[in-house]
Amino acid sequence: MPAPSRRGLDAPSSPIRKLVPYADAARARGVNVLHLNIGQPDIETPAVMRAALTDYHDTVIAYGPSGGDAPFREALFAYYRRLGHALSPSDLIVTTGGSEAVFFALAACLDPGDEIAIPDPMYANYIGYAQLLGIVVRPIPTTVESGYHLPQDLDACIGPKTRAVLICNPSNPTGAVYTDAEMAAVVDLCARRDLFLIADEVYREFVYEGPLPKSVLAYPALGDRAVVVDSLSKRYSLCGARIGCLVSRHSGVMASAMKFAQARLSPPALAQVVAARATELAPDFFDVARDEYRRRRDTVFEGLKAIPGVLAHRPEGAFYQMARLPIDDGDTFVRFMLESFSKDGRTVMVAPGAGFYAEPGRGTDEVRIAYVLNTDDLALSMRLLGEGLEVYPGRRR
Ligand SMILES: Cc1ncc(COP(=O)(O)O)c(C=O)c1O
Repeated sequence: MPAPSRRGLDAPSSPIRKLVPYADAARARGVNVLHLNIGQPDIETPAVMRAALTDYHDTVIAYGPSGGDAPFREALFAYYRRLGHALSPSDLIVTTGGSEAVFFALAACLDPGDEIAIPDPMYANYIGYAQLLGIVVRPIPTTVESGYHLPQDLDACIGPKTRAVLICNPSNPTGAVYTDAEMAAVVDLCARRDLFLIADEVYREFVYEGPLPKSVLAYPALGDRAVVVDSLSKRYSLCGARIGCLVSRHSGVMASAMKFAQARLSPPALAQVVAARATELAPDFFDVARDEYRRRRDTVFEGLKAIPGVLAHRPEGAFYQMARLPIDDGDTFVRFMLESFSKDGRTVMVAPGAGFYAEPGRGTDEVRIAYVLNTDDLALSMRLLGEGLEVYPGRRR
């Protein structure tokens, strides 16, 4: 039998999904698993978007243009105009989720052997996609003690082979929202050292303190070095639609990305029909969602503070919380919570932290919590986490 590729064998497993079989087994035993391992919001997809499916009467669900269908593209241009960014048609490609935009951005900006500097911990799939493309991730170290904000000396995080910086703002998994001074430092670095600045802004609206962060598209000093990864998954609770976009004024990057887009023919037709309805949402749509997530963030953070030995920093945005736990190993702890712990028929699943770090050995005593359930379930989850930690055999005293 032929062996599969080395590349596939070496690919990292998703820290978010790899322990799901243990959750399935717990459920089969009748345990109610509270899922805080994955960023799947429980917020309803807006009714006006769901209605687009019943209003769909085309007799053929056809391929569309590789860069996206005109009505949805127009909705995206209108959205970006409201944010203050005038885009030309060639500046935007509709993608199959933000995931495909990440892949296109990396593939269009970097060659195999090039380095990309990314604040560590990071959205785990950056590591997987970079590896698939032969790109070397150069971690920019951040810590819970400094709220996962950026180090002062960014030049020290860049080497001769570094071609790009990738930031996620607001950050999954840390919840950090970079300050104006941090953004100015990153922009200055990229302009001085002639690097692409790829910004994953899929959580743009989910900010709980202060004003919304500026998109990297708004920094003239970057010239055309700015590349934005965007997604409607979280913004409108549309995760399963698989729809997002790639935005850049760099004509070469967008020409390459369009070749990749043509190779996969077209983005999902039905998702675009649904997502084009974003223009019909109430103006306060994000305010309502933001208030709800702020309450959830506070519930999780207060719950964690009440657990002895836990170190956490209050997230400023997105809907994730990293926490350092008094444990030997995150993978073992998460498995323990699924296999050996339950209280009144319930347990909680979080994501082990190590998989979010590019630097080997970091994050083994951390977990990532996605606050995607209602506040009652989140408060219960934090109590379950605390009680699980009490009886976990690998607890550090
Ligand atoms: C930071 C970040 N970028 C990109 C994605 C990909 O999202 P999707 O492919 O659903 O648009 C996610 C999903 O969780 C994410 O958290």
